[in-house]
Parts: sequence; C-alpha cells; structure tokens
Amino acid sequence: MRSPLAVGSAFPASRFLVDSMLAPVDWNRIGCVVEYGPGTGIFTRALLERLPGNARILAIDTSAAFIDHLREEMDDRRLIAVRGSADHVQRIMADHGVEQADCIISGLPFSTLPPDRAARLMDVSHRSLSPDGLFLAYQMRRAIAPLLHRHFATVETGFEWRNVPPCHLYWARSPRPFSRSDGP
Ligand SMILES: C[S@@+](CC[C@H](N)C(=O)[O-])C[C@H]1O[C@@H](n2cnc3c(N)ncnc32)[C@H](O)[C@@H]1O
Repeated sequence: MRSPLAVGSAFPASRFLVDSMLAPVDWNRIGCVVEYGPGTGIFTRALLERLPGNARILAIDTSAAFIDHLREEMDDRRLIAVRGSADHVQRIMADHGVEQADCIISGLPFSTLPPDRAARLMDVSHRSLSPDGLFLAYQMRRAIAPLLHRHFATVETGFEWRNVPPCHLYWARSPRPFSRSDGP
C-alpha cells in the first residue's frame, strides 16, 4: 500500500501463474537464479522446490520488510535475500561471488519505470546472464516486449488468466533458440 508503483500489484502471484512461468525450464541445469522483486516469496519458494541442492537464488528486493520476511520464512542455504535494487544487480552479484546468472526472473513492473531506466536495467540484466542464460518475466502490461527483443535472440510469450491481474509471460534467451515443448 505504501509503494504502489514499485510493487505493481496488490495480490501475490497465483499458483497458476507460478506454474505456467516455471514449467518450460529445466531447473536441474540451473546453477544460479537472480530473482528481481521476490515480494512475499511465492516464486522464491517454488524455485527452491525445483532447483538442485547446489544451486543458489539471489533474491533482490527494494523493500526491507519483504527481505526480512524471506529471511525469516525460508531457512534454506541456497537462498541469499538482499535488500537493494535490481538496477545494481552486477554489484550485488559481485558482492556475493556470483559471476554470471543462468536465469533472471523478474516480477518488476517494467511499465511503470521511466523508459531510460527500463532500458538500462534490461541492458545490465542481459550482461549479467551467462551466454545461453534465460530471462523470465511476468508483467501486467507489454511494455517489456520491445526491450526483450532488442537484447535476446528468442522471445517466447504466454498469457495467464488465472492471476489477479492476468499476466503476460515472457521467456527470453540468446543465442540459442528453444522450444517450449522441450524446455528452453
Ligand atoms: C509485482 S511485485 C511481485 C512480488 C512477487 N514476486 C509476486 O509475484 O507475488 C514487485 C516486487 O518488486 C519489488 N521492487 C520494485 N522495484 C524494485 C527494484 N528496483 N529492485 C528490486 N525489487 C524491486 C517490490 O518491492 C515488490 O516486492
């Protein structure tokens, strides 16, 4: 309620949204996930259920309350919850000894960011990923689409009605194309 533009939605993600977003990815192959805007941790928990034992999640949120909540609720050595902004992802990764992310998953409301900032954030995100890394996003609006197409060779899309509000889903990667049916 205090930060409507930053949070973007009054409701946490539904299990339908989480399942649709995560289903196409072979999480066994992922060593490090960076999560932008974990909020109350709906996606974080689902990621921990899917990731192998040696993986890591770097969950970055600007809200101290959400980060405290994650630390209290999720006692898992794979999870590093950091209060900070996704804009500083490269410094945050370096601070935690992470060179490249295999996957970034973003719940940030890109449509409410000033265009320059949104472009810089996508640029820095792309540079933080390993060469065949994945960028996943769930968004109320489609403002993120042109930014994804500018940086990634392949952008697959979906839509999940069973969420409040309904959400556009994006799976982006470069350089290799992938098939949703095979997993990216
Ligand atoms: C739409 S909510 C998503 C919450 C959660 N992932 C879910 O699906 O229920 C957006 C989250 O992004 C966080 N946030 C907003 N701007 C941010 C930024 N620049 N860097 C990191 N987190 C940010 C907010 O505090 C909020 O937790």
